[in-house]
Amino acid sequence: MTDRLKGKVAVVTGGASGIGEGIVRRFCAEGARVILADLDAVNGAAVATDTGAEFCSLDVADQSSWAALEATVRSDAGQLDIMVNNAGIVSNLDITAVTVEAWQQLMNINLLGVMLGCQTAISVMRDNPDDAGGSIINTASSTSYLAIPDVAYTTSKTGVVGLTKSVAVHCANEGFNIRCNSIHPGATLTNILKTAIEQMPEVEEACKKMSPLNRMGTVDEVAAMAVFLASDEASFCTGGQYAVEGGTVSQHPKM
Ligand SMILES: NC(=O)c1ccc[n+]([C@@H]2O[C@H](COP(=O)([O-])OP(=O)(O)OC[C@H]3O[C@@H](n4cnc5c(N)ncnc54)[C@H](O)[C@@H]3O)[C@@H](O)[C@H]2O)c1
Repeated sequence: MTDRLKGKVAVVTGGASGIGEGIVRRFCAEGARVILADLDAVNGAAVATDTGAEFCSLDVADQSSWAALEATVRSDAGQLDIMVNNAGIVSNLDITAVTVEAWQQLMNINLLGVMLGCQTAISVMRDNPDDAGGSIINTASSTSYLAIPDVAYTTSKTGVVGLTKSVAVHCANEGFNIRCNSIHPGATLTNILKTAIEQMPEVEEACKKMSPLNRMGTVDEVAAMAVFLASDEASFCTGGQYAVEGGTVSQHPKM
């Protein structure tokens, strides 16, 4: 690795597993000081121990939990350069099955959680030394472009695009020197998909066929995009949507 993030402080939500864990591992390897923020203290602490990251308990859907994280970042690190709002869940409920409770639970994590993460990031990044600003990266999905029956999930990931653009434009207009972009993974083999494949083995082949490359993506491939957006190399990138989905949305479904 090349120390592309040396001297930077990063928070990664949902860092205890899957794509977030991959981002934590790569950010640490690139020289960043990483705060792994997750509800899952067991896996979170294990990944932190293995990588040299610091574990911080966080429920992204809870505003007071974000206030505690902000206080910890300010007192322990004194700056925040990178915020990855990555924690997310699925509901697997279509429009005829979804309940108000299931809808609200998913929206609180996948959309409200990202909004609170952006607010927290901006609050700390504005106080960074030397007006250094920072980079916010929100994990959306190929589902932001191509709907699946999980109605709350599709809606949340479409919402992350608008949220990201609004934050990017506001920060630029105000001269905050804070960039904000979304990453759009395609089918990536993590716990979310492993559970579905265990229950319905045919899901694995269907996920592979989504991409003309005929395979799923890896967490390392998504983490590589996060490193670029987090680094100073991405200094002219804001409000953008960065696909890591093996051409999924480029392929005509009937070909
Ligand atoms: N795996 C895929 O195919 C895929 C594709 C596109 C987008 N995504 C997105 O990538 C992100 C990560 O998903 P993943 O596949 O790595 O899933 P994952 O289940 O492996 O990891 C999700 C992590 O989020 C944490 N989390 C859940 N609720 C939380 C909360 N309220 N507060 C804090 N942490 C919480 C979990 O403990 C877990 O560590 C999600 O936003 C997901 O929608 C995944």
